[in-house]
Amino acid sequence: GSTLQAAAAESGRYFGTAIAASRLNDSTYTTIANREFNMITAENEMKMDALEPNQNQFNWSSGDRIVNWARQSGKQVRGHALAWHAQQPGWMQNMSGTALRNAMLNHITQVATYYRGKIHSWDVVNEAFADGNSGGRRDSNLQRTGGDWIEAAFRAARAADPNAKLCYNDYNTDNWSHAKTQGVYNMVRDFKARGVPIDCVGFQAHFNSGNPVPSNYHTTLQNFADLGVDVQITELDIEGSGSSQAQQYQGVVQACLSVARCTGITVWGVRDTDSWRASGTPLLFDGSGNKKAAYTSVLNQL
Ligand code: XIL
Repeated sequence: GSTLQAAAAESGRYFGTAIAASRLNDSTYTTIANREFNMITAENEMKMDALEPNQNQFNWSSGDRIVNWARQSGKQVRGHALAWHAQQPGWMQNMSGTALRNAMLNHITQVATYYRGKIHSWDVVNEAFADGNSGGRRDSNLQRTGGDWIEAAFRAARAADPNAKLCYNDYNTDNWSHAKTQGVYNMVRDFKARGVPIDCVGFQAHFNSGNPVPSNYHTTLQNFADLGVDVQITELDIEGSGSSQAQQYQGVVQACLSVARCTGITVWGVRDTDSWRASGTPLLFDGSGNKKAAYTSVLNQL
């Protein structure tokens, strides 16, 4: 294949990107996005604050821009994200207890129902585990509604859209020896054992010099896959440049391709200048839309 999506398709995988609605009128951006990617994640437009700015009043306009653009271009959509401690609307941030639990479940039900039939996979719960060595849950208003909030979220999502794949998504879960990785692994194992509806685990894969691509990435992805879930790289970006960056990208692609149930890779933006990172050059295209060394190494590895 001569594009990322065509090359990934040769092994039955997808290659995706995050898209920002505000950039859809930039033709350099849409030309690259159209050509290279066949799975689209809304960078911000389908988060809780965007879709439910006031309680039980939903605003679908920005999410629809992304979903319609993707589907008109023959691309699939990863829904991101139904429940998360961050980017909650103001009204939700100060809620607690049963009221918050019910508000979260209502959000999931309304959003997954509205988009039913249009979503390949939902990130049902995002970033619920703590950093550091505890291996436990992150403290948040959602966690304080009770430790069963994650499985309640997955059950609500399954009821609303039975055909979407339901994923748990997190960062710094790439290295098999990290406590956070083990914590998520134990949760997924428990969910599978008890029949909680989970289909996939997303690895955000935001890498930098302090958090490099681990040499045991294959082991992590394979161990999760062996629990009976698909795995995906969902928000890939790698700080750096030149051949060292290219090599790290190649390592991520290699790890995914070596695991049969690693079904796709998504990079978190198109050009370096589209990245959420305040500085640096973490993506596959430079600010002018030229292919970087990292692009070539990914394409050749796929
Ligand atoms: C980021 C977006 O890229 C930014 O535009 C926004 O300001 C903050 O969120 N983990 C996630 C993504 O799951 O939703 C985040 O996206 C990056 C980290």
